[in-house]
Amino acid sequence: MKRVKKAVIPAAGYGTRFLPVTKSVCKEMLPIVDKPTLQYIVEEAVAAGMREILIVTGRNKKIIEDFFDYTPELDAALEAAGQEELLSVSKKMENLADIYFVRQKHPVGFADAVMYARSFTGDEPFGILLGDDIIYTEGKAKPGIRQLADSYEKTGKTTVALMRVADDDIPKYANVRAEKISERLYSIGEIVEKPKIENKFSNDAVIGRYVVDAGIYEAIGRTPPSPNGEVYFTDSLGVLAKEGLLHGYRFEGLRYDAGNKLDYLKANIEFALRDPVLESGLRAYLKELSEKL
Ligand code: G1P
Repeated sequence: MKRVKKAVIPAAGYGTRFLPVTKSVCKEMLPIVDKPTLQYIVEEAVAAGMREILIVTGRNKKIIEDFFDYTPELDAALEAAGQEELLSVSKKMENLADIYFVRQKHPVGFADAVMYARSFTGDEPFGILLGDDIIYTEGKAKPGIRQLADSYEKTGKTTVALMRVADDDIPKYANVRAEKISERLYSIGEIVEKPKIENKFSNDAVIGRYVVDAGIYEAIGRTPPSPNGEVYFTDSLGVLAKEGLLHGYRFEGLRYDAGNKLDYLKANIEFALRDPVLESGLRAYLKELSEKL
């Protein structure tokens, strides 16, 4: 199977859950500690060997392009001040990956955003990474999207990330009926977007990582639109599932939801606790705070 070397990141949504900040700052640029959430996603793709990345943006997303561009004034000022370390942090962005941008004309959903990737991906397989899902891996674990890509490269089947969730969280995610193939790999028979708890197939939820190939465009084309006229990406995965062409992979790693406020705050605290400069001060503060509460 062809090696997965390209990635697509849909980033056109309004980010309404983070209003008012998202009136002018897009949600992909909200930081976890000091890096925008989007940087974590791009770094995961690059660490997975996907250096060609298409970001599907929209209106009011110009700061994303600026972030990955070079910043001559800032770099000159840092250089003049002898701040080598900060200079390398700034310069890292320009050299991180080959990043392409396309604008989704109307943010009408995930499947529509994926269709914008067609000429970028051609016949090659690619990873899709949703910006709200941050996957943290350590030790020997490979980056989340690489775990899926390794599986795709062996089987040739579209592969989605699976994670066990509690009943209360079932309505937040796509849900699957799946049969185990091997330790982490599952064959998906049915998939449904955000069911009610009583309609769940299982406690296996789909997290925003997918490895697909050009077959996805054709599957999207064959997917009946929902009553509101939108074609749901999950329904297109369902088209593949019916034909026995969909796998799920229970990835190794911790997943954070940067798309809701409480989990976003938790992610900030946990990433800060992993930062050697912030760790001891924050730990002392949290201890003091927990005694007060
Ligand atoms: C999207 C997908 C959903 C998936 C989820 C993972 O939903 O539509 O199938 O389970 O991401 O985070 P969203 O969270 O954008 O509503």
